[in-house]
Amino acid sequence: METACDEVRIATDDGSRGTRGTVIDPLREVIATTQVDRVIAVGPMPMMKAVAELTRPSHVPTVASLNPIMVDGTGMCGACRVHIDGQVRFACVDGPEFDAHSVDFDELAARLGMYASEERTALEQGRG
Ligand code: FES
Repeated sequence: METACDEVRIATDDGSRGTRGTVIDPLREVIATTQVDRVIAVGPMPMMKAVAELTRPSHVPTVASLNPIMVDGTGMCGACRVHIDGQVRFACVDGPEFDAHSVDFDELAARLGMYASEERTALEQGRG
């Protein structure tokens, strides 16, 4: 990132590198003090949702790289469906990058947790 960007800000949960906490505080500061052309959020879904909510009031174009459950990756199984502006889209073939302000993150979070108990069982049995 440092070779591609004028400035890199880092946030870590424990403060071992950069700002202690999430990316939201440094991003809020950048948006408040700088002309931002675009924000690209890639990572955990709660972070991408928080970024979208942060940039929404100032209308900064924001892209989220969604990571829904995927099965076939061809647009046939429907496992990766997400609602974008109320329309069903398949992240594997229509994305995974979407306008973050149009993503139904609550639905996405619910779908990501759909198999949590099965995933936990698989981990406990050494199959995960
Ligand atoms: S993973 Fe099956 S439709 Fe996208």
